[in-house]
This record gives sequence, C-alpha cells and structure tokens, in this order.
Amino acid sequence: MKTIRDLDLQGKRVLIRVDFNVPMNEQGEITDDLRIRTVLPTIQYALEQGAKVILASHMGRPKGKRVEKYSLAPIAKRLAELTDKEVKLAPDCVGPEVEALMSTYVGNGYVLLENLRFYAGEEANDPEFSKKLAALADVYINDAFAVSHRAHASVAGITKYISEKAAGLLLHKELDYFHRAIDAPQRPLVAIVGGAKVSSKLQALNRMLDKVDKILIGGAMANTFLKSQGLAVGASKVEDDLLDSACQVLADAKAKGVKVYLPVDVIAADRFAPDAICKQVTVQDIPEGWMALDIGPASVLCFSAVLADAKTIVWNGPMGAFEMDAFARGTMALAHTVASSHALSITGGGDSNAAVMQSGEADNISYMSTGGGAFLMLMEGKVLPGVAALE
Ligand code: 3PG
Repeated sequence: MKTIRDLDLQGKRVLIRVDFNVPMNEQGEITDDLRIRTVLPTIQYALEQGAKVILASHMGRPKGKRVEKYSLAPIAKRLAELTDKEVKLAPDCVGPEVEALMSTYVGNGYVLLENLRFYAGEEANDPEFSKKLAALADVYINDAFAVSHRAHASVAGITKYISEKAAGLLLHKELDYFHRAIDAPQRPLVAIVGGAKVSSKLQALNRMLDKVDKILIGGAMANTFLKSQGLAVGASKVEDDLLDSACQVLADAKAKGVKVYLPVDVIAADRFAPDAICKQVTVQDIPEGWMALDIGPASVLCFSAVLADAKTIVWNGPMGAFEMDAFARGTMALAHTVASSHALSITGGGDSNAAVMQSGEADNISYMSTGGGAFLMLMEGKVLPGVAALE
C-alpha cells in the first residue's frame, strides 16, 4: 500500500482525513486523546515536507446538522498544545468561506476543518459533497483508521476525485500490527473477546476460529455461552436468540482444534448498581434473580494460565462492567496479565482501551489500536472500505 512517504508533498495542499472522534466528558473536555496523539507523526511529516496541511474529521453523530457540542473547537485547542503550532479552525468543512481561508492562510501551522458530519452528504457518501472536499486539496491522505470501516464521503467517495492519494502513517501502522498479529502471528495466538453482546462479535468469533489457537470469552457475552451449555445464569444479560449460535461456535471450535475458555466463576450482584450486594460464585451457583457482572478470581487465574505461554494476544472487549469499581477487578487483573506477558499484545475497541488506561498499563501493551468498529471489521476478515478506496 502506498503511504504518505511515497508522495511528493512540497508546496501541495494535503488533506489528511483523521479520526478525532474522541471521548468527552459532560463539560466538553477531552478525556482520552489517543486518537489525536497517534496522528501527530503524519501531520509532522507532511509539514516537514513543505505541505499545506488541512485536517478533516468527524465527531459524534450530529446527523447532518450543525450541533455546537460536536464542534471540533476543543480538538483544535488540544492539537495546538500538542504540536506547539497555530491550528486554524475553519468555520465550516466545505464552501466559499473555507476555500477563501485556504487560499489566504499563511500561518505557521495548519487548518482543521469543522465537523464533516454537519453535512448529511458525509455519511451518505454523496458524490457532490465528495467533490467539494476534493476541491480543497491536491493530495488526499487517509490516516483515519478508526472510521475506515465507514464508506463515507471523506473516507471513500473523495478518493475518486483526487488522483494523488495514500495511507497516513497511523493507518499503515494499524494495518501492519493487525497483519502481524492475525495473518502472520507467532503462536500460540490467543484472542480475548468480551463486551456486552455476542451478536456484535459473532462474525469476528467465527473468523477467529480459523486464525487463533485459543479464545477466552468474558463479559456479558459469556452469559449467552454459559446458558447455551445448560447453566442457569439468573437475571444476567443473555441473548436468548443466539443460544444456538453460541453452541455452534463451541462445536466449530472443537472441530477446528481451537480451545475456548469460558469463565468458571463470576461476581454476581443483586442488581446493576455500584452499591449492589455482590458475591463471588461459581458459574453453577449464580442465584436466581442475580446477574453476573464480572469474571471472578478463579477465572482470572484460569485465563492467566492460558495467557502464560501466548506469543500473540489480541484483545477486544472488557470482562465485565468495569466502569463500576465493584465489577472492574476481572478486567483490571486481565489487563495486568496481558501487560506483563512477553507476547505481542494488541488491544482494540473503545472499552478495551479505556480499561487498559484505567489499569495504568497502557505503556506495557505492545499496541493499542485506535479503532473500535474498524478493528472488529478487521477481526471479521473484511477489507475496510477506506482501505479499498486507496487501493
Ligand atoms: C468510532 O468511534 O468508532 C469512529 O469514530 C466511527 O464513529 P461512528 O461509529 O459514529 O461511525
């Protein structure tokens, strides 16, 4: 795949699609800037090459309307702090005002376009909107791995109207790590899959069966697997319509020689609340009316034993409702195990990354992907539309 390093950028207007869809708190403050920091090398490189840099991103889901809480103003501020350069936030992402700004701007920094999703044409992959974006630049760079699973105008459509295009350094790095972990892994390769729903991970699980040696399943999705094996899981979250699919995954795994590990104990609570009454029980002993909200210490020991000889670990989805302290221990313990392992470890998905951050182990994970849906789509074995558009 062609990368930004293969293009001549000197004096050219270079539009870099990035994903600055970062988590914010209620005060509108950025709570995790991983997606900003990880594209800095691409911005830096383009500036060093003498390019006139234009950044474009979405934020949230404003559904084609201008919604002030989704303005990229806080991002412009954080970018300026991180890069020590002037960041000019354009009043819009297309149109005469932006074009005028582009032709007159001669600051010592770069331009950030306002939220692309203020226009319905972005998500609709509208050719007219794509053309307007393309008109702003001579070169197009996709460095937005985390939104490359969306065939949107700034990710896919635009590539039809700019002939000079390539991947940014982050997109390239993301694909490279994923390829190393899944297509050419050092074995044993262990996948840790968690989170709320089997339904959202079913395709990924099926695909992983052809790739991995072992799979650890935790989080609420484990309940569906446990119930499919005849266990009574009380009032735990379960996808009853997927009990057969869960059985099928386990049967296919067996046929393919992939070992699947389910929790052996859980932290059960009488309700889903931080002050719920909790107890540690085996998966055979979940009281009626109680819900499993985290894996228990015996499961942590078992999962850690599985991970002990792993050479590659791919982790997507937390082991429990880690946002509440009472149900965070399983996920935190697993984060420490993964971090202290000698394996190449890759985490993906907003929740998994947030859990790793919360555990304080971010520096000890080999690679934290910036992708959520995009990471999952790669796990499903699909080609991302944003990547296909560059090829
Ligand atoms: C993400 O956060 O996964 C990406 O920014 C894509 O956002 P979306 O799910 O709103 O398309």
